[in-house]
Amino acid sequence: MNIILLGPPGAGKGTQSAGLVERHGMRQLSTGDMLRAAVKAGTPVGLRAKEVMERGELVSDEIVSDLIDAELAAMTPETGAIFDGYPRTAAQAEALDDILARNGRSLAHVIELEVDEDALVERITGRFSCGNCGALYHDTANPPRNPGVCDTCGSTEFKRRPDDNEETVRTRMAEYRAKTAPILPGYEARGIVTRIDGMGPIDTVARQIDAILAS
Ligand code: AP5
Ligand code: ZN
Repeated sequence: MNIILLGPPGAGKGTQSAGLVERHGMRQLSTGDMLRAAVKAGTPVGLRAKEVMERGELVSDEIVSDLIDAELAAMTPETGAIFDGYPRTAAQAEALDDILARNGRSLAHVIELEVDEDALVERITGRFSCGNCGALYHDTANPPRNPGVCDTCGSTEFKRRPDDNEETVRTRMAEYRAKTAPILPGYEARGIVTRIDGMGPIDTVARQIDAILAS
């Protein structure tokens, strides 16, 4: 099964993707994670993406669609894909249709996580992750069980994203409203969109997503 997790920055796409990987053996395809890995490795894609990401603007459609194309082609056909943070523009939505068709896959669900704007800023400015395994945390809503120690791998190294400041978050939200939200009607016309309340606790949101997958 292939699904898109859609929602503004901080809506919980990455958090819920990690749960889906664990519960259902699906594979998370996050263009944000792929781009951050490219920036870290200093690849040509990373060099082009770094400043655009730090401003909170969108990287070119071609770069992200090529990343998704390559990842999907390397996956076994029986593994389900979670598209996290992709597609984000009409051109990317079109490219995804093409990529899926070439790989003999189809989209089962587009799940939109709805969260209030003030809550998004609060979530993003409080976010940090494990420097070793990437597990996501929040200062107050989702801290490690043992303070300063990653629940998943035991590492004591944590990091924060350079684009997780209030000013950049506002730009990322504006980009979402202007370029990403307009792709929803096209999926709605196919009858595959479900909106869920992303304001509840992480487990409650996860149960709602599982119910959609089982439907
Ligand atoms: P990307 O990495 O995709 O960032 P984003 O869309 O802004 O989303 P986030 O990762 O910030 O949020 P999330 O929804 O995953 O929330 P999370 O689960 O972490 O993109 C970054 C940049 O890369 C873009 O700005 C752009 O430049 C570029 N880019 C990426 N993809 C692109 C594309 N397709 N095209 C062009 N450019 C692209 O949760 C946030 C926090 O809240 C965490 O601390 C978490 O612990 C907490 N939390 C989660 N759920 C809950 C809950 N239910 N209750 C309380 N707290 C919660
Ligand atoms: Zn870890």
